Amino acid sequence: MCRKEQQRNTKMEHSEKKDAQEMLQAQSHIYKHVFNFIDSMTINCAVQLGIPDIILSHNQPMTLHELVTALGIPPPKATCLQRLMRLLVHSGFFVIRKLPGRIQEVGYDLTPSSRLLLKDNVNCLTAFLLASLQPVFLTPWQSLGEWFKGKETTTFETAYGKKFWEYAEQNPDFSDMFNEAMVSESCLMRLVVKECKSVFEGMGSLVDVGGGKGIVTRVISDAFPALRCTVFDLPHVVADLPETKNLKYAGGDMFQSVPSADALLLKHVLHNWSDEECVKILKKCRQAIEMNDDKGKVLIIDMVIDIDQDEHEVTDTKLYFDMLMMVLVNGQERTVKEWEKLFFQAGFSRYKIKPIFGLRSLIEVYP
Ligand SMILES: C[S@@+](CC[C@H](N)C(=O)[O-])C[C@H]1O[C@@H](n2cnc3c(N)ncnc32)[C@H](O)[C@@H]1O
Repeated sequence: MCRKEQQRNTKMEHSEKKDAQEMLQAQSHIYKHVFNFIDSMTINCAVQLGIPDIILSHNQPMTLHELVTALGIPPPKATCLQRLMRLLVHSGFFVIRKLPGRIQEVGYDLTPSSRLLLKDNVNCLTAFLLASLQPVFLTPWQSLGEWFKGKETTTFETAYGKKFWEYAEQNPDFSDMFNEAMVSESCLMRLVVKECKSVFEGMGSLVDVGGGKGIVTRVISDAFPALRCTVFDLPHVVADLPETKNLKYAGGDMFQSVPSADALLLKHVLHNWSDEECVKILKKCRQAIEMNDDKGKVLIIDMVIDIDQDEHEVTDTKLYFDMLMMVLVNGQERTVKEWEKLFFQAGFSRYKIKPIFGLRSLIEVYP
């Protein structure tokens, strides 16, 4: 073989090696995404078994043997539990720590994420997690491809033959489960509401539009007792809920009219709707703002997609929510530009965005 041929062969071998390397990486990438659901299902299993609460009540990191005993798991399945915990440690739900006073022994301990899944934690996300992974929410994803080619506005409709809110109204158990999930999701607001003094200061009245069971308004009305609050939602959602001195409930349809107040709150509401529907809701809100002393405003708590600024993992979560909104309710998560378009179309003149709620921002919108 001449030198040139040898060089050509070496080059080909090199490029084949590179191609093979790339393909093997691609295979790993595909498998990771195909099996992402295992992350969801393992944390679901840990919560169903009550592992975070068991570890908490143990008062120190728990060995595998102690966990097996506490859970009453048959000995042949002990290594299966060890494998479940290995993945959950890897995904950041638990951590392995040395046991105090027991040299060379280690046990499982909680992390901030599993602490949010403790039953007695006021900021517990368990109801949100368990509801989100129920078959009723997972089934529509099987019809996503079919939906793209069909006429229904959501994949939820393709799967169940009716819109999400209609389904919720007709299935009280589903509605209860969804509303409890929303309550659990909203509890975290407690952590930041007090820091929003300037937002609520001087405000006389607030209507929480699409406020569900009113957990956020409850947090706000506790923090600002002089504020008169009303939770406004569909009649079946707010029926028979206990009122307090500064918190009332009102049933109705926000597409028809919205009760008047100094300020209106829309938390996790606009991401449920299309642009046209959002403009309709925002116009109703603008009409309902009492025009006194420039206090009138709409407060929106929702995500703002910012792929350039956000960390990769934050964008992952926001894009998952965006797809979730598309599949369930014909809604979407929005960029600043997309939000701005809605505000101006609905006749508002200016807005301020404060990214203070983790994944969510507070947007103040002024007439
Ligand atoms: C995603 S939930 C958000 C609930 C609450 N704001 C929270 O953050 O926990 C959306 C809410 O909008 C309500 N909703 C849907 N359609 C509505 C309508 N036409 N008028 C008033 N509320 C409506 C639902 O019942 C539900 O409580």
